[in-house]
Amino acid sequence: MNKSGNDMLSTRFDRPDGHLLSVYEAEGGYKALKTALASMQPTEVRDVVKDSGLRGRGGAGFPTGVKWGFVPADADEVYFFVNADESEPGTFKDRLLLDYDPHQTIEGTIISCFAVKAKTAFVYIRGEFGWLIDRVQVAVNEAYAAGYLGKNILGSGFDLEMIVHKGAGAYICGEETGLINSVEGRKGQPRLKPPFPAVSGFLDKPTIVNNVESVASVPWIITNGAEAYKNFGTEKSCGTKLFSVSGPVKNPGVYEIPLGLPFREFFNEQLGGMADGEKLKAVIVGGSSVPVLTAEEAMNVNLDYESLTNAGTMLGSGGMIIIPESSDMVELIQVLMHFYFDESCGQCTPCREGTGWLHKIVKKMRKGEGTVGDLDLLEHVCQGMAGLTICPLSDAAVMPMRSFIEKFRPEFEALIQETAPAGNCSLWPRGEQE
Ligand SMILES: Cc1cc2nc3c(=O)[nH]c(=O)nc-3n(C[C@H](O)[C@H](O)[C@H](O)COP(=O)(O)O)c2cc1C
Ligand code: SF4
Repeated sequence: MNKSGNDMLSTRFDRPDGHLLSVYEAEGGYKALKTALASMQPTEVRDVVKDSGLRGRGGAGFPTGVKWGFVPADADEVYFFVNADESEPGTFKDRLLLDYDPHQTIEGTIISCFAVKAKTAFVYIRGEFGWLIDRVQVAVNEAYAAGYLGKNILGSGFDLEMIVHKGAGAYICGEETGLINSVEGRKGQPRLKPPFPAVSGFLDKPTIVNNVESVASVPWIITNGAEAYKNFGTEKSCGTKLFSVSGPVKNPGVYEIPLGLPFREFFNEQLGGMADGEKLKAVIVGGSSVPVLTAEEAMNVNLDYESLTNAGTMLGSGGMIIIPESSDMVELIQVLMHFYFDESCGQCTPCREGTGWLHKIVKKMRKGEGTVGDLDLLEHVCQGMAGLTICPLSDAAVMPMRSFIEKFRPEFEALIQETAPAGNCSLWPRGEQE
């Protein structure tokens, strides 16, 4: 963890004992829960979170309090899922929240459940995070023993059971309805929406799915108030955000920064610029599913939802991948397309087939067998995939693919055999996937 002085979520990231209940309590932990249960109505908690402007940190940036408001007021049974699947390439922030400070997320979850009147919460942890599952389970046990979970929490009459659930390593189970299906014991395949989970989710009951970072932000907001939260960030992108930064910068790692910080400032002052001998070529700001920015574009953008959208990309999960001049962009997109092909759940034809074709075509180009029609063919495949599927995984493959071609076209063109017939639709043996 790299401290940047904006530590709302990351106060205990550099503490070896920050995961302990005693340490969390000594630093004011669970006071927000006590305040919420003793002096607030569930709707008040929801309104404070809504007023704070907190937006979901799992990728889509949907306002958290607004989502909570979609749960029908007369629902008899509500479920809450903390999404700790964290499989988006380039993203490694939620694991720190759960490893170094699990009680912050647990407290945030209890308060969130109180707000939406959920009596059962699942913490859905990516299967590969074996040690985290143990870490969170120990913290959950501590919370039960201290009376923060279970029946009649702190004498308030509010009951909550918390279940730590281990995923099985599928990227698609990070998508909220794929996640719900997998906990129900079904295939981890996304559901068609509507209905949205807030209305009909787990066991067809109203269900809220929130990212770890979103939930972990809640105690601070309840303790300090919506206005204090809005003092960080911009008018529409409030608060701080964790960015996990990988690639050859001097100081890679996880940073908590106020939204709206210029990339240039973040890059020069906190990341320390590029490592010796490296030059910046491109940046993926929000995890591999968002369009890539050239170095010049990145240097002129601010790190908030609106600025990044205006620049043609997205904040996403904050998984920032720094790409050096020495990187082969075609190789990089081949790796990404292989990932999406591998992780497609297969239920929509455009995604199941399209991700495979994108990967095959790029792979063929890298073998030196690219033909003149391949770039058009890639675009043709993208057109058949974008916005046409049950979940956004298909678009998540299309967005980087298109932006890589648009911004680094000469690297693709260099792989094309000028002698091959124009429009050649790339006849290569079927079934050959790496
Ligand atoms: C393919 C795919 C993978 C996803 N993976 C994750 C994930 O690992 N963690 C996460 O919080 N959200 C992930 N999401 C987003 C979730 O569907 C959902 O929007 C999010 O958990 C909602 O929480 P938030 O509102 O707090 O952001 C994924 C979405 C898609 C389409
Ligand atoms: S878009 Fe892809 S991953 Fe999403 S539901 Fe369809 S086939 Fe599955």
